[in-house]
Amino acid sequence: MSDRPRLLPLLGGTRHGSRDAMTCLYRCGNACDHPVPNPTDNPYFGDVVDTEISRRGVVRAGAVGALVLGFGGAAAGALAGSPAAAAPAAPPVPGEGGVAATGAGRPGSGALTFKPIPPNKLDTLVVPNGYDHSVVIRWGDEVVPGAPAFNLGRQTAAAQSKQFGYNNDFVGVLPIDRRRALLVVNHEYTNEDLMFPGFTSQDALTVEQVRVAMAAHGMSVVELERVENTGQWQPVRRGRREYNRRVTALATKFEMTGPAAGSAWLRTAADPKGRTVVGTLNNCAGGVTPWGTVLSGEENFNQYFVGGDAVAEEQKAKLTRYGIPTDVRYPSGSRKWDRADERFDLARHPNEANRFGWVVEIDPFDPQSKPRKHTALGRFKHEGANVIVARDGRVVAYMGDDERFDYLYKFVSDKKFMPGKSSVARRHNLTLLESGTLYVARIEGDSPAAEIDGSGKLPADGGFGGRGRWIKLVSGNRSYVDGMTAADVLTFTRLAGDKVGATKMDRPEDVEPSLLTGKVYVALTNNSDRGKAGKAPADEANPRNSNRHGQILELVEDRGDNTAETFAWSLPIVCGDPADASTYFAGYDKTRVSPISCPDNVAFDATGNLWISTDGNALGSNDGLFATAVEGPERGHLKQFLTVPLGAETCGPFITGDNRSVFVAVQHPGEVTGASVENPASTWPDGDFAKPGVVVTWRLDGGPVGS
Ligand code: FEO
Ligand code: CA
Ligand code: CA
Repeated sequence: MSDRPRLLPLLGGTRHGSRDAMTCLYRCGNACDHPVPNPTDNPYFGDVVDTEISRRGVVRAGAVGALVLGFGGAAAGALAGSPAAAAPAAPPVPGEGGVAATGAGRPGSGALTFKPIPPNKLDTLVVPNGYDHSVVIRWGDEVVPGAPAFNLGRQTAAAQSKQFGYNNDFVGVLPIDRRRALLVVNHEYTNEDLMFPGFTSQDALTVEQVRVAMAAHGMSVVELERVENTGQWQPVRRGRREYNRRVTALATKFEMTGPAAGSAWLRTAADPKGRTVVGTLNNCAGGVTPWGTVLSGEENFNQYFVGGDAVAEEQKAKLTRYGIPTDVRYPSGSRKWDRADERFDLARHPNEANRFGWVVEIDPFDPQSKPRKHTALGRFKHEGANVIVARDGRVVAYMGDDERFDYLYKFVSDKKFMPGKSSVARRHNLTLLESGTLYVARIEGDSPAAEIDGSGKLPADGGFGGRGRWIKLVSGNRSYVDGMTAADVLTFTRLAGDKVGATKMDRPEDVEPSLLTGKVYVALTNNSDRGKAGKAPADEANPRNSNRHGQILELVEDRGDNTAETFAWSLPIVCGDPADASTYFAGYDKTRVSPISCPDNVAFDATGNLWISTDGNALGSNDGLFATAVEGPERGHLKQFLTVPLGAETCGPFITGDNRSVFVAVQHPGEVTGASVENPASTWPDGDFAKPGVVVTWRLDGGPVGS
């Protein structure tokens, strides 16, 4: 384009809260237009305060045991999962290179010394003084060697299937050796109005353009190399690049595993055995496993399906609970992929929607491997899944269902993690998520309900906190939910959670254990409907009505055992403008913390500090990345590390094990109502039109990031 595009003003509407209406349309198929899918009247814990238990009485012996094993697991993992297991160099993992050893005091207590950046609305990526950043890869760049050059006006599905996809979200960096690594990225969704010149409507797209969008969904695996001896990384641009791979919604075949694989709910005309699914949808966040694979959450899969009005009556409640309207053929915000593939029409293939909403596992070190969808981890709008090896060797995956008033889950494997790099260990660990026990959380406060008034005012004991229980839903083929088989529970997990009275949360997004302490951190993004007429009121874990800014929940399993069925919890951070009385930063001096709104993804650096990225900042600034200690006197001293360009969301923070590089995904830059390719709201990163991309940030002096 010859003329530099004009920058549009931000035009956010009020119906969609802090999000731009375009975000709502493309991200979640206008979920705000549809009723909240959880209509149950599960008790909120104001009704059920258990006064006999107090979080202050909990002794956390044994967390260190979890940390050592989890740590060893992480260390062993990248090589254990790799055909490059014979590579001579050890991967750069937490604790190696003296990084953790030099951290002051307990894990997670390190002072973060960078100077925080101010909130801003610049159309650029902003990092602190003393840091630099570069774009690692962006939409349209080559992934599969030999991919056609990106051609904005003439994209084809075949080209896009070899190029980096759209709207990168999860980022994982798995070391091969100290100089090479695999970047694994999710491509959550597409913004057709920012992808196709002359876009007018979904209906006006050609079928080939719909197929381009399908190919721009999914995942990418890209081999990276370190730039000289810095914290900068770039794609390897020559040679075989044998690991480079695209996974798409268009063509990649997945194997279903676990108790619901092959069940009647998953069978379709194209797959009468119910065991092979084409494509993955709306892959949001995820996690790197201790055995060197990547998990990826299928989130807002509902928006891809039409024809919910024509399914059998008995199936309608199930669709409704998953956000698929059953009163119209084309829901508001529908992507109408049935135009390209009839399986997205539920009137013809009513079970197809049941084949999405799972946790996907991909082995990036085995480029020929078929990715899998693990039914044992349940089906909901999976934000992601993060695994820790428990003290007894079983693995535990923590998961959130990202919807207003939905639930928090965990999975405990039957089998134990096998350390080491042998092919036997590798094969064994790839089966860990195929059988186990799925739980949903019931969370209870320890303060009288009357003290939780919905304003965010702290209760008399000085903090939001209490106790919780993991309610068993299913174990192997055995269901613990009345009237539901194991396959029912796993395929319609939300309905199972409803039946057992799980606690309705304010959009549980990333749920991630610290491998150093075993404590688990939950990003609760926001919930504009909390406390509205007919909706659940504030409770101690979700303490603000009309919650615009979200909160962070810290969950400490009893006895430091990640397989425990009871836990203590607290809210270390209640987000917003620190000048707002309803915010809380673990008691830290609020004049010294950065404002934060809508926490979404969390990550840890090698010293155990917590990093938090945001989605939908309701304070008027661009989204960003923040960091805080979680232990010791610096707990709650939250500082802003970076901001992403205009209209973008900060996703996938990942800090490498050597603590020298911070990766973030810049998702949906320029996603602003009225923007287009020709008239973009953002011109990041190349000065022409907006392209989602992955960025790496490093310290110019080569020191550890953050500290
Ligand atoms: Fe895709 Fe929950 O954000
Ligand atoms: Ca997210
Ligand atoms: Ca997100």
